[in-house]
Amino acid sequence: MNEQVRKEHGSMAADSLTDDLTGLLNHDVFQLILELESMKSRRYGTPFTLALLNLDSFPLYNRQNGTSKGDSILRETARIIKETIRQCDIACDIAARYSGNIFAVILTRSDAESSHTAVERIRLGFETFTRGELTLSAGLVTCPRDAADGNSLIEKAMEVLSRAKTDGENRVYFSRSEVQPVAGRKPMILLVDDDRRNVRFMEALLDASDYDYDVIKAYDGNEALSIIGGTEVDLVLLDIMMPGLNGYEVCRRLKENEGTRMIPVIMLTALSDSDDKINGIKAGADDFIVKPPDRSELIARMNSLLNANSLNKKLTSIENVLISMTNAVEAKDIYTQGHSARVSNMALSLGRKLNLPEEEIYALRIGGILHDIGKIGIPGEILNRPGALTPDEFEIIKTHPEAGYRICQPLQKPLGPALDVIRHHHEKLDGSGYPDGLKGKDISVISRIMCITDIFDALTSSRPYRGAMSREKAFEILNKEADEGKLDKRIVGYLREIIDSVHP
Ligand SMILES: [Fe+2]
Ligand SMILES: [Fe+2]
Repeated sequence: MNEQVRKEHGSMAADSLTDDLTGLLNHDVFQLILELESMKSRRYGTPFTLALLNLDSFPLYNRQNGTSKGDSILRETARIIKETIRQCDIACDIAARYSGNIFAVILTRSDAESSHTAVERIRLGFETFTRGELTLSAGLVTCPRDAADGNSLIEKAMEVLSRAKTDGENRVYFSRSEVQPVAGRKPMILLVDDDRRNVRFMEALLDASDYDYDVIKAYDGNEALSIIGGTEVDLVLLDIMMPGLNGYEVCRRLKENEGTRMIPVIMLTALSDSDDKINGIKAGADDFIVKPPDRSELIARMNSLLNANSLNKKLTSIENVLISMTNAVEAKDIYTQGHSARVSNMALSLGRKLNLPEEEIYALRIGGILHDIGKIGIPGEILNRPGALTPDEFEIIKTHPEAGYRICQPLQKPLGPALDVIRHHHEKLDGSGYPDGLKGKDISVISRIMCITDIFDALTSSRPYRGAMSREKAFEILNKEADEGKLDKRIVGYLREIIDSVHP
């Protein structure tokens, strides 16, 4: 493992990397790797799981049995972890002694649902080793879904871990959501295998699960591709060795086609054959399951891919259309290029800082991108006028929130509270804003956030009638408006903190 760490994260002396007692990575090195892995995950969108494992009632055990016995338990825990995690070409997990009797594992290329089985094996191995005298609990979170940087991942995993402990210890918990129905129907699973007995076996497994799926079957690669061409399939369970088109080829064709690229593919491989996996990864497979699969592992992995994909579908279909419309607005208004993306990012950071629920965070992200979409109806000469606007022209500019709301209203369901942001990002707390002249608590927190980030970005970018303003000057104006009762003072303060932490 240290080899891998050195390869990926630079060379440090081995003894400064590891913990003396267990030989696992030490806390500081782990923290650094966690940060680097979360940066990679954010950049490439590849998920990983952070697992925190804690020995239950260990301080008591130490007091009763002495520290040397306690130390040998810690060494054995490290051994069990090392023997359980993956150390192959496909995936190299990273384990550390995080602090005292807390161990940390990064399970690469997998989310918490799929990592559950591996950590459960550690829990079971430990319980067997101590003959039930000692147990351990674990909390699992997925990056970037549950949190996107090292500290927040640790914080979230600690929360999940403490839930596992208060629920009675000796259990592995992960933060997850139930499988989402796909557009209000059952997920459609395509089973592809030339061996009819295997197909029947897999079908029976899915039938016996607690979840409801629709299943269609194909007995060779060509049949699979023609079914996918004519039916909306949400996930493919794909055998590798088939006459004619084999599984790799089917997978490669699905992943090369724009229309089917997003359908998750799980390949069914022979026991721990790493060539199968390498070829499968090359073909673009999303996951692998060893035949015959363990039902709970299969269901957990399927659900995690189905969930990720239903979110992707939601994002791709709406975002693609609307983002291209936003680009059209920005192309007209030469002074606001990149404005929407910057506003969206700042608003998202503020939402996280205020601990808003996920639905509102999503609204800030999408609402930020779309907030000025109504400007699509405003003539370019007005948007790019290098001087003060006439009162009439300003009246025209003021129509954009309502126009944006009208454009996006047909997408009310998927956009949710983002619509509120589009309509109300120019409302002021004292009622002096537009289009509805809302006051105080009638203006939602997300619209307040959008208003403040919008003004900040406008002030600090160059405009037809002036150059970009300094950060100090921009905050002077925001604070003045907050003092006058127009803007939310607390949010202005938080924005300052965020901006200062990014550009000290
Ligand atoms: Fe606006
Ligand atoms: Fe704006």
